[in-house]
Amino acid sequence: MSVLTTSFGQPVADNQNSLSAGPRGPLLLQDFHLIEKLAHFNRERIPERVVHAKGAGAYGVFRVTRDVTGWTKAAFLAAVGKETPVFLRFSTVGGEKGSADADRDPRGFAVKLYTEEGNYDLVGNNTPVFFLRDPLKFPDFIHTQKRNPATNLKDPTAMWDFFSLSPETMHQLTILFSDRGTPRGYRHMDGFSSHTFSWINAAGERFWVKYHFKTRQGIQNLTADQATAMAGVDPDHATRDLYAAIQDGDFPAWTVSIQIMPEAEADAYAINPFDLTKVWPHADYPLVEFGELILNRNPENFFAETEQSAFSPASVVPGISFSPDKMLQGRLFAYADAHRYRLGGNYAHLPVNRPQGCPVHNHQRDGAMRFDGNGGGAPNYEPNSFGGPTQSAAASEPPLRISGDADRYNHRDGNDDYAQAGALFRLIGEEAQARLMDNIAGSLSKAPRFIQERQLAHFHAADPRYGAGIAARLGMTLAA
Ligand code: HEM
Repeated sequence: MSVLTTSFGQPVADNQNSLSAGPRGPLLLQDFHLIEKLAHFNRERIPERVVHAKGAGAYGVFRVTRDVTGWTKAAFLAAVGKETPVFLRFSTVGGEKGSADADRDPRGFAVKLYTEEGNYDLVGNNTPVFFLRDPLKFPDFIHTQKRNPATNLKDPTAMWDFFSLSPETMHQLTILFSDRGTPRGYRHMDGFSSHTFSWINAAGERFWVKYHFKTRQGIQNLTADQATAMAGVDPDHATRDLYAAIQDGDFPAWTVSIQIMPEAEADAYAINPFDLTKVWPHADYPLVEFGELILNRNPENFFAETEQSAFSPASVVPGISFSPDKMLQGRLFAYADAHRYRLGGNYAHLPVNRPQGCPVHNHQRDGAMRFDGNGGGAPNYEPNSFGGPTQSAAASEPPLRISGDADRYNHRDGNDDYAQAGALFRLIGEEAQARLMDNIAGSLSKAPRFIQERQLAHFHAADPRYGAGIAARLGMTLAA
């Protein structure tokens, strides 16, 4: 058995009784062990993620199943059968760290691939689209999903006020209130990059891509009633399910595909391929399967690994890059900024975040909690004459043609907010439509009448039956 020590390794003689003047106290300030214990306890909390605070993570492997070297020069995708270690964190979005896994919400699907060219983070969701197409609206939108500033309660009025004034939310909110808004667990849902990214091959050609992770466990969802019950019976049901499955050797797996669009086709395509509120119809860009993802190991310590994990869409590797999607551009800033606040400036050195497939060489030094060798005696500047690391042109990207005058363009101009929402409504069949409209009416009924009316016009524009069905459930009529 090991000996209990202080933080600095001194053996502790008594961990049950404080040092006191006489059996009834008071206590002595020289009881350093007591003071250290209380002081460290006071510092156990770090800020939770401002969104996606509740989550569960696991390690696994990504394996290439098809030759994709014609589209990307990424080293981890260079050969069929090649394997890369991953860490994946699932999450809900709006709730706090202790909120119920069964809440109606999108689910986060954040994958970190520890490649030999550095970490590649794919920070996606279980939905192929998002509520917005301009990052300027993200903080306002999230405020409507969180708690009312006066009551500290969830606020359907704020939520539907924002939705009804922001019709670009129609597609994603149709998914959110469908059966897929309450997955049976993290194993039983798909993942998506949602955004368009780019792949670049060795010849310097660029392709626009969207990622799809299809669950091999099958899609399974909770009904609204089951989700409500689950939130009470087991608020951690998805966390528990993931951990137990991996512990039992029942390793969850996903088939990984891309949709792929040659760079030149983007301008002429019927929809803006960089609009995050839209999918690319599979008839236009079919799925190309190229890999599999298997989760096979639970973290040993939740805080050290899952809570301290930090994913960023800006973390890409040569052969993979960004797109002009405005939302993605906003995210490229937001994540590392959040990490520096949440974890401190040296968060990249934490074991779960540091690259495992390659060394790190740069000139960054010092800072709070620098707990590695801090670069030792190596040069901390460039250029230098002493063999410090240098840039590599092999990692450069082909130039990206952009054009246009700098302005604040109305992101609604020329963008149809309704067609894909209506198409999804028609696709899911009558029973699922009924549940979707029940779920929406249940929530929208809590908003004032003028907001209900404004929102009904959007459902009507997506599909007259969608609008009429929700209106009827609210005891209102809407001309078909
Ligand atoms: C987490 C910002 C849109 C997926 C976060 C965090 C921030 C953030 C600040 C917390 C990061 C941390 O503390 O580690 C934004 C902004 C967005 C946006 C500004 C839009 C402009 C999206 C979209 C997706 C997404 C469109 C999915 C396609 C995620 C996921 C996490 C996350 C999965 C949790 C990552 C983890 O497990 O640690 N987001 N987000 N976000 N976001 Fe976003």
